[in-house]
Amino acid sequence: MSKGRVTSGMRPTGGIHLGNLHGALDNWVKLQNDYECYFFIVDWHALTTPGGGDALGYENVSRMRENVVEMAVDWVAAGLDPDKCSIFVQSHVPEVAELHLIFSMITPLGWLERNPTVREMITGYKIESPSYGLLGYPTLQAADILVYKGDFVPVGKDQEAHVNMTRDLAQRFNSLYGRDVFPITQVLLTQVPKVPGIDSVEKKMSKSAGNSIAVGCSEERTIELVRTMFTDPVKMRKNDKGHPDGCVVYAFHGLYNKAEQPVVRRECEEGLRGCVDCKKALAAKMNEALRGIRERRRELMNKPDRIKDILMNGASRARAVAQTTLGEVREALNLPPKEIF
Ligand code: TRP
Ligand code: SF4
Repeated sequence: MSKGRVTSGMRPTGGIHLGNLHGALDNWVKLQNDYECYFFIVDWHALTTPGGGDALGYENVSRMRENVVEMAVDWVAAGLDPDKCSIFVQSHVPEVAELHLIFSMITPLGWLERNPTVREMITGYKIESPSYGLLGYPTLQAADILVYKGDFVPVGKDQEAHVNMTRDLAQRFNSLYGRDVFPITQVLLTQVPKVPGIDSVEKKMSKSAGNSIAVGCSEERTIELVRTMFTDPVKMRKNDKGHPDGCVVYAFHGLYNKAEQPVVRRECEEGLRGCVDCKKALAAKMNEALRGIRERRRELMNKPDRIKDILMNGASRARAVAQTTLGEVREALNLPPKEIF
């Protein structure tokens, strides 16, 4: 029995990194067993920001297709099962755009201007005059969720404002047009581990910050990146006493070597452990844990038709639901039915 509908999306940044894997995908993989899940790659949202240099955005769309495919490959390799959930590309469901347009008529500008995540994007990218599309980012996200009548959205704190606005829009629509077309969506708060960037335990791992480790990188590359992880800067020699709490390597032992983490702490604090060996041990554990997903992604990379199939099937299932919703929306708005003309 399904406990309701779950929707979530991710920007097409290409292959996923360990933050995406442990902070989102591992959780999605569990949710697919209990909920009716819609997971999509938000290619339209990627176009809301400039994306100069290496980044993807309206200034640089050259790698859009590859990024979408790579992300889909990694999602499936991570354990999303196309028989249990719908995996697709946002723009393959044009009903999302139709709903976004309708929602844009009832989204007060103040809601968008006040949205903290939108403000962060505007200042972060140093945008002088935000585009209509960027300001409307949360409205597009609300359409993503509500077109499938999503009950739950498994996202972190940084996305909470968007989900709250989704709820406000649903309520506004339902009360303006006197029909309960949309559910009142909730954030699904599940325990997910914090994955720091390789540069600091204070920072989140993210591709744009350049502090990430790709799930799909080689074992050698993993070892190399672990070697560059930030450690206790005052611990110079093996027998110096260390401070594991500010150390990224220690934090990762908690993710990949949970059983031995207390030993790592004690040996570090007592000056019985060197950082070089500590990193070697960690990288070995990580490579061991990632071997299965890496093998699956290598296999899938060689089967582009399989991925295409998964994305097409996902989109057609999602579209069927979206079309039903849009039928109800058109009816609520008293828009003339298409068939009378
Ligand atoms: N804004 C989300 C992010 O940056 C991505 C996203 C787009 C999303 N549409 C969504 C997340 C719908 C959940 C539900 O991570
Ligand atoms: Fe970090 Fe390990 Fe070095 Fe301690 S010994 S500072 S936990 S890398």
